[in-house]
Formats: sequence, structure tokens, C-alpha cells
Amino acid sequence: MKGIILAGGLGSRLLPLTKITNKHLLPVHDKPMIYYPIQTLIDADIRDILVVTGGNNAGDFLRLLGNGSKFGLEHINYTYQEGEGGIAEALKLAEYFAGDESICVVLGDNIIEKNIAAAVDAFRKQDSGARILLKEVPDPERFGVPVLEGERVVKIEEKPAKPGSSYAVTGIYMYDNTVFDIIKTLKPSGRGELEITDVNNAYIDRGELAWDILDGWWTDAGTFESLLKAGNLVAKTGANNT
Ligand code: DAU
Repeated sequence: MKGIILAGGLGSRLLPLTKITNKHLLPVHDKPMIYYPIQTLIDADIRDILVVTGGNNAGDFLRLLGNGSKFGLEHINYTYQEGEGGIAEALKLAEYFAGDESICVVLGDNIIEKNIAAAVDAFRKQDSGARILLKEVPDPERFGVPVLEGERVVKIEEKPAKPGSSYAVTGIYMYDNTVFDIIKTLKPSGRGELEITDVNNAYIDRGELAWDILDGWWTDAGTFESLLKAGNLVAKTGANNT
């Protein structure tokens, strides 16, 4: 399985911090944000990693991460997203990298307390389809929200005004290789983006979306409030405990 970190987009919710650097290079407590999703993949024994970045400061990723030796990696792959066409558009750029393998995708601003090794192992045993991780949150309207019937996710709604559950779809997604065919069928949403929620709904329509509850705390870090929260959580308990 290959690992993909999506660290494109323009980070406009964090202006002026993101005027002179990329959101994922900002500090979360004592490390740049991008360190956390890299560690998330490595802790799940995924060591062939592509970073999709964008914006004006893409070269700084190379300066910071180099070939990944700080993480014990032999190599890191990079690619570049023009503009801010959405998470699924950024993922499309990984098609050449995935080849015929399945993938584990982590959003560059998602930080977790523990690790995803058990879910990744379960996905390795799953023949095909997708697997997502859910987490109960106080503010589901900020996220993709699953509507559950018993144990089944029947649909996912992106930032619903009236959430159908108290869960968020975290930014950690496992897909088989057909994800790239699904992305080719997507149309831009109301906010002009190719939405990862539409990808997940396509797997639901096929009856091929599995899910787990993520263990430990989870946060994004893409707003001033969540960036502060992420820093405080990391300072208190550390992140990526294996
Ligand atoms: O954090 C989890 C949430 O992430 C999910 O619950 C939502 O369903 C999903 O749509 C996403 O919501 P956000 O609106 O918070 O995503 P945001 O636009 O902040 O993008 C998250 C990361 O995805 C960002 O840190 C980098 C990457 N990204 C985003 C865009 C729009 C890209 O690489 N390229 C892009 O064009």
C-alpha cells in the first residue's frame, strides 16, 4: 500500500499566516504540521509516500523534508497541485504514483493522538473498496458527516447545516485502485471543488465503504481555533503514540 499526503490548497482560512508560507509548514507545538501526517503513515508501516503540495512555497517542503531521512525513509516523492481545486483534485495527481496498488490518504492538516495501524491492517485484508475513520466531535457541521443506519453508513454529507450524526469523517481514507476512475466522474461542488465526500459516496453506492472509529484524539489544524487546539493537544499528550 502506498501513502499519500495532501498538502496543497492555499490555506486561505489562515491568512495572513499563509501569505508567506504553506499552511502545512506552520508550527503545531514543536514541529511543522506536515511532520504529523508523515508519522501517521510511517506508524502504520507505510513507507512509500507521496506529498502533494502547491502554492508559492512548494520548494520549502524539499528544504524541510529532503529525502525523508529524518523519518528513517530512503526517499520521499513530491508532486504539485496548481490552484485549489479540491481534495479529490489533489488526489488525482497521485494516480501515476499509485500504479496498481491501493492507497492510504492523509490530509496534511489532520493530527492524531494514537495510530491507525489496526485500520490499515484491516484494509489490507479487505479485497477491494474503501475504508474511512470516524470520530465523534462536538461540531460535526464543520466536516463531512456520516448518516448511519445501524452499522451502515448510508451517505456522507459535506458540512451539513443540520448534521445527521455527531460523527466527523476524519481526513484519513483508504482506497482501492478504482478511486482514480471515480475521481474522473466527479463534477465540481458548489464551492468549486472536487469533493472527497463525493468519492466516499460513490463507494457507499457500490456497497463498498467500511469504517472504524478512530482511537484517541483527532483534530484538523486549518483554522485559527483548530490550529491552537492542535498545538495544545500535542503539548499535553504528544501525538502519534504507537
Ligand atoms: O479534516 C477532515 C475534513 O477535511 C473532512 O471531514 C471533510 O469531509 C473534507 O472535505 C475536509 O474538509 P475541509 O474543508 O476542512 O478541508 P480543507 O479545504 O481545509 O482541506 C484539508 C486539506 O486537504 C488541506 O490541509 C490540504 C488538502 N487540500 C485541500 C484542497 C482544497 C489539497 O491538497 N488541495 C486542495 O485543493
